Amino acid sequence: MVIAGGFWGDEGKGKIISYLALKDGLDLCVRTGSVNAAHTIWFGGKRYALHMVPCGFVNEKCRLLIAAGANVHVPQFLNEVELTGVKNRLGLDGQASIIEEKHSAQDKASEHLKGLGTTGWGVGPSIEERVRRTAKLAKDVPELAPYLADVALETNQAIDAGKEVLLEGTQGLLLSLFHGSYPYVTGRDTSASAICSEAGVGPTKVDKVVLVFKSFVTRVGTGPLPNEISKEEAIKRGWFETAAGTGRDRRSAPFNFELARRATMINGATHLAVTKLDCVFSQCQRARDYERLPLEAKHFIERIEDETRVPVSFIGTGPDALDLIDRRE
Ligand code: IMP
Ligand code: MG
Repeated sequence: MVIAGGFWGDEGKGKIISYLALKDGLDLCVRTGSVNAAHTIWFGGKRYALHMVPCGFVNEKCRLLIAAGANVHVPQFLNEVELTGVKNRLGLDGQASIIEEKHSAQDKASEHLKGLGTTGWGVGPSIEERVRRTAKLAKDVPELAPYLADVALETNQAIDAGKEVLLEGTQGLLLSLFHGSYPYVTGRDTSASAICSEAGVGPTKVDKVVLVFKSFVTRVGTGPLPNEISKEEAIKRGWFETAAGTGRDRRSAPFNFELARRATMINGATHLAVTKLDCVFSQCQRARDYERLPLEAKHFIERIEDETRVPVSFIGTGPDALDLIDRRE
């Protein structure tokens, strides 16, 4: 199963992954992308904003891997390993590239990148270095030696053995270097295909692509946001958020059916997840039964299904991993 974001990131992928890790008994969870993306999880009354460790960590039996295509920030990686206590079940591909302090300095010093509203972690400059073929890789860093693994091999073996494997994407389609609102995008493709490519899993091995949308749209940084509402209006509607990673204000807009259709197409989604339904329809708070949702909330979900022609299988109704309606048979 692949999990991807449908808008500009921050759709609540962390929550959906943590639910699946617990509910579907995940055996393996593979993180892609880099440190610019923070995945938020509420678990056991505690909030985690993970930039490196896969969200499957909430299931103690789940093996955690970081893909060859990922880009690793060593201090952040080591901090999160400590925080989540996953040292003995975490593997990191030796080919993953390393993001260094100098990349962050280059990111922050660049007027061009500042104009795009980057997160400042240095992902763009670090990927440039990887493409130039002068990047440091995980296998070159002594502190990472205990974690090194062949992620593509382990992942494919697990799939072939019929284990439950989840590939964890980051950000959203509209931040994709290829399919997003260039130049206001991140330094990589964020689509489901790219997630597989980073992990080293071929398209014939994928059964399910779960595309995650939030019930309204948010975006941090600059670049177009159709039908954007003011911060005051966002606060009034209960949509105002700040970024889990950088603390910046998130801009917001109503759910966008046209963009959702396109994201569904490009990701080849087989299932949709819609999070934060309770922020648009307050009577949905912590609901776990679809039949008991108010009619207007059901109409909203049905319209998403009509427009995308893909079932909304998961609906988020609160922050906890288990505040969710699971509509799979
Ligand atoms: P960069 O990825 O730091 O280079 O930033 C490029 C653009 O992607 C900026 O608009 C960032 O705000 C946005 N961005 C990067 N990562 C995330 C994320 O995880 N969530 C939301 N926006 C992100
Ligand atoms: Mg995020």
